[in-house]
Amino acid sequence: MGKTARELGTQVDVIHLEKGARFPEPEEYDLVIIGSGIRMGEWTKEPLEFIEQKMESLSKTKVALFVVSGYAGNPDKVAEAQAEYLDSMPTKYPGLSPISTALIGGVFQFNKYNLAIRALVKNIIKDQMTPGEELPEKLDFRNWDMIHDWIKGLVEGLQES
Ligand SMILES: Cc1cc2nc3c(=O)[nH]c(=O)nc-3n(C[C@H](O)[C@H](O)[C@H](O)COP(=O)(O)O)c2cc1C
Repeated sequence: MGKTARELGTQVDVIHLEKGARFPEPEEYDLVIIGSGIRMGEWTKEPLEFIEQKMESLSKTKVALFVVSGYAGNPDKVAEAQAEYLDSMPTKYPGLSPISTALIGGVFQFNKYNLAIRALVKNIIKDQMTPGEELPEKLDFRNWDMIHDWIKGLVEGLQES
């Protein structure tokens, strides 16, 4: 996302919240894109803490949200995932008013999971696999064209405003 936005002529800071990175106030940016992988139906803790701690400043600038989710590529689950993981955020965090959201297909690295996590994750992706198909070491459902187009739309929106 950062690379795409830079290639479109924007100045970008990519900040990894889980690494305890320090960051400037959100309101110093024209746009703040906040995202998370989904684990057990929830955003991870660092972006949620960031939203809670920086809500006042976030409410003074444009915000866009994305999640990387195992259900994003499942036609039967995609609407539910959009509603639960993204559309619910302004209700959970009053003051948060995203101009855009993106539900992005997930990455699964089975060689890194223990047996319990494997079983859980297999259940998430079972509809996206052929019955009887062996689990590969890694499945990557990210749709890079969609990700690129989302960022392009956001950057063009900023350049026009
Ligand atoms: C333990 C675990 C729980 C997960 N729970 C969900 C879930 O509830 N809903 C969902 O859509 N995806 C779920 N996923 C899939 C992840 O969202 C997907 O693997 C995503 O790529 C994780 O983000 P990350 O690659 O940034 O870690 C889960 C994955 C794992 C490993």
